[in-house]
Amino acid sequence: MRTPFIAGNWKMYKTVAEGVALAESLRAAFDGLTGMDLAVCTPATALMAVGQALAGSNIGVGAQNMYWENEGAFTGELSPLMVKELARYVILGHSERRQYFGETDETVNRKFKAALAHGIVPIVCIGESLEQNRGGETVPFVAAQIHGAFAGISAEEARKVVLAYEPIWAIGTGLTATPEAANTIIREAIRDVLTELYDAETAQAIRVQYGGSVKPENMAEFIVMPEIDGALVGGASLKEASFGAIVKNALAALGKA
Ligand code: 13P
Repeated sequence: MRTPFIAGNWKMYKTVAEGVALAESLRAAFDGLTGMDLAVCTPATALMAVGQALAGSNIGVGAQNMYWENEGAFTGELSPLMVKELARYVILGHSERRQYFGETDETVNRKFKAALAHGIVPIVCIGESLEQNRGGETVPFVAAQIHGAFAGISAEEARKVVLAYEPIWAIGTGLTATPEAANTIIREAIRDVLTELYDAETAQAIRVQYGGSVKPENMAEFIVMPEIDGALVGGASLKEASFGAIVKNALAALGKA
């Protein structure tokens, strides 16, 4: 059984003080929660303070990006050694990083290996554009992203990753994939491909989140889908009221409330 996992991706929002305030209210609402993993992926500037605010709680902290070298002349980058000091998770290959900052399947793969080498849990994002979706190319495109991300990674290592299926056209738009469509894509483009690359046991062990306009009102219908193990939440993770309601609705839908 895969433990459900809901993570907030704060993107480029929240000063340190704002992030700590949100973390404290999430801690007050969800400390001691069992049966579901929670995390907040904060801007790099807030990782330490939010980590301190959540220390000893069941809410993990994640970074949103990382470089693969341990150190060096790479102005503006964070190394795995630096991320590891402050975070349990790191988001890799988010579509915004692919779109605006030149990330490719190859750079995602290098970062993926670096995260695993340092014991950081990668949340690897994949997902198709609207054009690809309309052109019927979703499954081959996402399958190719999976092949690229997992190149040279063993089955044992692969089981440590979390995947986030985020159709690009559903991010920040208010549009979502239907839960049934997301479930089918995760099965055909992710689990079937992981079964081919590794084995059924490995494919079944990996958690896959859905991301893209997740809100309190639609969380339940995604989380009950057999292939969907949680959510990576953007805009609605920025307030305790909406993120808290997402978590509560997911728990209720799973019968864990
Ligand atoms: P929204 O929830 O704002 O659509 O963002 C999704 C996302 O990109 C999470 O990584």
